[in-house]
Amino acid sequence: MCGIFGYIGTRSALPVLVEGLRRLEYRGYDSTGVAIHDGDQISVHKTVGKVQNLQSVLPSEVPGTMGIAHTRWATHGGVTFVNTHPHASHDGKIHLVHNGIIENFRSLHRRVKAHGIECVGETDSEVLVHLMGIELAGGATPQEAVERTLHLARGTWGLSILFLDHDVLICARNGSPLIIGQGDGEMFVSSDPHPLSAHTQRVVYMEDGDLAILTRDSMKMVTHKGHSIDPTVTVLEDSWSESDLGDSPHFMHKEIYEQPEALRHCIAGRVDREMGSGRLGGMRLGHSTMVQAPHVRLLGCGTANFAAEIGQMLIEKMARIPAVTHISSEFRNNDPVINPKAIYLAVSQSGETADTISAVKEIKLKGGQVFGVVNVVGSTIARLCGQGVYIHSGPEQSVASTKAFTNMVAALTIFATQLGRTRHLSKAKGREIIEHLQQAPHLMESYFENPGPIDEAVALLAEAKSVLFLGRGLSAPVAKEGALKLMELAYIPCLAYPAGEMKHGPIALLEEGSPVVIVAPNDHLKEKTLSALHECRARGAKIILIHEEGDTIASEGDVSIAVPRIHPWLTPLLTVVPLQLIAYSTALHLGKDVDRPRNLAKSVTVE
Ligand code: AGP
Repeated sequence: MCGIFGYIGTRSALPVLVEGLRRLEYRGYDSTGVAIHDGDQISVHKTVGKVQNLQSVLPSEVPGTMGIAHTRWATHGGVTFVNTHPHASHDGKIHLVHNGIIENFRSLHRRVKAHGIECVGETDSEVLVHLMGIELAGGATPQEAVERTLHLARGTWGLSILFLDHDVLICARNGSPLIIGQGDGEMFVSSDPHPLSAHTQRVVYMEDGDLAILTRDSMKMVTHKGHSIDPTVTVLEDSWSESDLGDSPHFMHKEIYEQPEALRHCIAGRVDREMGSGRLGGMRLGHSTMVQAPHVRLLGCGTANFAAEIGQMLIEKMARIPAVTHISSEFRNNDPVINPKAIYLAVSQSGETADTISAVKEIKLKGGQVFGVVNVVGSTIARLCGQGVYIHSGPEQSVASTKAFTNMVAALTIFATQLGRTRHLSKAKGREIIEHLQQAPHLMESYFENPGPIDEAVALLAEAKSVLFLGRGLSAPVAKEGALKLMELAYIPCLAYPAGEMKHGPIALLEEGSPVVIVAPNDHLKEKTLSALHECRARGAKIILIHEEGDTIASEGDVSIAVPRIHPWLTPLLTVVPLQLIAYSTALHLGKDVDRPRNLAKSVTVE
């Protein structure tokens, strides 16, 4: 949610900043801007819209080797030019970009006004730069101006700040991620690691309360209490550099087709086929923790939440202990009861989702043990938990999550076998699951060779007023995921229900020609799901049926799409793929921006 990129070095800053923004654009794309310091003056260029729009208003050259850049996802203040970052102090001596929310900005605004300064826009961010300007004008050093301002502020921030009269870039973090990249004679700052990988592998993850004072060849870090700290330099994983589009038309397309390989990465070295068990070293789960855990709680938002719901069912099936999934954004506010012996799993692709971070903090505060199921290495959730499993999808850049979903499901499956084997799961059953899981990447590849009549499904969906998605058991969260994908990409209202619930309300929506997507793999619930299908058909609905190859129910769909057969507990890994393709193709058919759907952002870093 909002992307920040900053540079101080010897190269021309503009192309470095624009490339950084391009790679961060998925975090928000309401408006974009840069501020570049050429030693004498700071020039600002900004525009409403995407990085592409910014490029069209930029002069071919802007001198300067130091600058800051921002891509915005609007929170406070409309999507307008004046609300676009960077923001400048009243005297133009400070320019700042901000990610996060300043909760007490109204009272800070009054303070700014009392100094005779009027804000030009409506953002919460702008008050910060004016307060810093007031401090600087009063004789403070840049560091003091930032520290004193942040002392007054309540809320969350990732900040990158330029000063006209100082050869320095100051960054601050509280609740919104910032990572410093160390080059040779140059420094970078970014909201997430992959734009840095083009320049350096040496990075420092800032912690909440940290302030970083960057020059071309030095980095000083202090805590919010002003204590100096030795930054811990981490080496970025190679996989973060592979985030280019390549030959694919869109990131979503690329990421859908990367799923078999991503799945292999997730599974490799983490299963013990002989023992029929998972082997998740990073979970650091002691035998007694697993044996004594009274229950498992899983947390996540959106797609991560649906993957967690599948994990929940697999844990109950394999370990026979109660498991419950919570929507992270609801969890903390409901004053949850935390059992220190229970196992909590925080599921997140980005590891930066504010709602899930809050839930993790609440669990930790109350003495619970929480494990991350996260994609982005070194992200806030991964570091807060300090234990867990990386799902190893590689960078996911499309706002619509695809390969992270299947890898979350795979990682939770492995966890379920590990927990299950300490309890009720037999070696033979564990082996059976693991063998099928290892075949899943290959089965996905074979589905891609014959993806079925996706275009026919698109023809049914593209003009629909609304679409109903149905599934039972493990297929209910798959139906929810399919509905979320179509809704966020094609802007068609979609409703997902466990198939048995359809007759308790949603059936009222059906009329002649209403499209209904039904996920019905060959499991013990298939016959019951088929009853729902017949109830829909009796009301004139058109059925898009996702089923397993060779199943005679194929004839029940107006459009039937077959996926390869797999163990009934692993069907979500395959049934979700046609739903991803349907959403992608429908959005394309309707001329929507597939990778950058309106109003959304990849990492939702505000609560
Ligand atoms: C998925 O397509 C969505 N864009 C969204 O629901 C996403 O899954 C959610 O915001 C959670 O993100 P996370 O996995 O990074 O925590």
